[in-house]
Amino acid sequence: MFYYYGRKKQIAKYYPTPNCDTIVEPFAGAAAYSLYGDNWKKNVILIEKDIKVFQIWDWLINCATVEEIKKLPDLKVGEKSSEFLHIIHAATKMAFRFKTIKVTSVLERNWEISRRVFAEDLYKVKHWTIINGDYSDAPDIEATWFIDPPYKGDAGMGYRYSSKMLDYEKLSKWALNRKNEVIFCEGCNGDYLPFEPLLNLRGVAGKVSKEMIYYKSEVAPPIQLNLFDV
Ligand SMILES: C[S@@+](CC[C@H](N)C(=O)[O-])C[C@H]1O[C@@H](n2cnc3c(N)ncnc32)[C@H](O)[C@@H]1O
Repeated sequence: MFYYYGRKKQIAKYYPTPNCDTIVEPFAGAAAYSLYGDNWKKNVILIEKDIKVFQIWDWLINCATVEEIKKLPDLKVGEKSSEFLHIIHAATKMAFRFKTIKVTSVLERNWEISRRVFAEDLYKVKHWTIINGDYSDAPDIEATWFIDPPYKGDAGMGYRYSSKMLDYEKLSKWALNRKNEVIFCEGCNGDYLPFEPLLNLRGVAGKVSKEMIYYKSEVAPPIQLNLFDV
C-alpha cells in the first residue's frame, strides 16, 4: 500500500497463492502479499511491532477516507518533513533512523504515487485487522501464514525492530507450529529452516540478491518451487 524498505510488491506474484480464507502477516510492513491480486478479498490479519507502522495501517483501515487522502499535501523537492509516513517513502533501510528528511525527487515521486494508490485501493483494506504487537501475539488460527521477518544478518538491520532483536530459532519453532499453510521468506543467510531458492533478483549495477522460501501446507498438494531470474 505504501513504499517501504523490504516490501514484497515487485515479487509478490512469485509466492504461492493462498489456499485459506484468512491470510495472516505477522510481520506486516507494507503487507504487499495481502494486497497482491485478489488476496486482499480474504480475511486479512496484520501484526506489526513498530508503533509508527501500525499507526499508518490503523489510519488506513479504521479512519482514512478517500476525500481526506485527496487533500494530503504534495511534497516538493528540497523541503523537509518529519512525518514518518513521508520518511518511509525514501524506501531505504536508513530511513528508519531519520527524524527529519529532505525531500528528493525520488521521494516526491514515490509520495505522489502512494497518495494515488491510497485513494484507489483504500476500499481493499477496510475489512482488514491490524494488531500492534509481537508476531507471537497473532491469533492461533488456521490460515495462510505469510511470514516475512527482517532477514537474518545485514539485510534485516535498519528496521526499528531489526534482525538483531529476533531469536530465529524461536521464530522457526513458532512458524512450524502454525496451522495450515506457511509461506516463509528469507534471504541468503536463512539457515534455521530448510529454505529453498525462489528468486535471483538482479539489482542496480548487476548485483544479484537471493530470495529464499520455506513452504508447508497441511491441505494443499506439494508444490513444485521454481527458481526465477528477475
Ligand atoms: C521485511 S518487513 C515486512 C515487509 C512486508 N512483507 C511488505 O511487503 O512490506 C518486516 C516487518 O516486521 C516488523 N517486525 C520486526 N520485528 C517484529 C516482531 N517481533 N513482531 C512483529 N513485527 C516485527 C518490522 O517493523 C517490519 O515492518
